[in-house]
Amino acid sequence: MPLTINGTVHDFTGDPRTTLLDFLREGCGLTGTKKGCDHGQCGACTVLVNGQRINSCLTLAVMHEGDAVTTIEGFGSAEDLHPLQAAFVHHDGYQCGYCTPGQICSAKAMIDEAANGWPSFVSADLSEPPTLTPDEIRERMSGNLCRCGAYSNIVAAIAEVLEAAR
Ligand code: FES
Ligand code: FES
Repeated sequence: MPLTINGTVHDFTGDPRTTLLDFLREGCGLTGTKKGCDHGQCGACTVLVNGQRINSCLTLAVMHEGDAVTTIEGFGSAEDLHPLQAAFVHHDGYQCGYCTPGQICSAKAMIDEAANGWPSFVSADLSEPPTLTPDEIRERMSGNLCRCGAYSNIVAAIAEVLEAAR
C-alpha cells in the first residue's frame, strides 16, 4: 500500500494495527516525529497529512493509502532551515527539543488554517479572517504540550515568522 512521505513513495505492508507514528519511526526510520503519550494528548507526534495537522499516534498507517505525509524531516535541512526552524533557533523555542518537531508541524498547519479563514475558540470576529495575535497563537497551539515550558519563546518564534511574511 503506497503512501508518499516527504516526497518519497513508501510501501506499507505491515500489521494493519500499526499506527502511522510507528510506521514513520520504525518502518521508515524517520525518528524526527516523537512519541510522547501515544494517546493523542501531547502533540509530539504531529505531522501533516495532505497539508493538515494530525496526531500520528491516533491514526493507522493503512488509513493513508495515496496520502502525502510531511514530517519534520521534510521541512528543511541543517544547511537550509525552514523559516519556522530558524525562528525556533533564534528565539530558543525549545529546551530538550522533544516536542519541537510536533510544534513546528503544528505551527505550519496553524498558519495555513488561519490564512484560509479558519476561526479559533478565541477569535472575536467570525466575519473577518483571523489575525494571529499571541492569544490566537497560544489557542491554536494548545494541542502541543512542552514539558520544558518553552511556550513564550515558541509564541515569539511563530510571531516572527508571521511578521516576516507580512
Ligand atoms: Fe501522539 Fe502524544 S504521542 S499526541
Ligand atoms: Fe522539552 Fe518542549 S522543549 S518538551
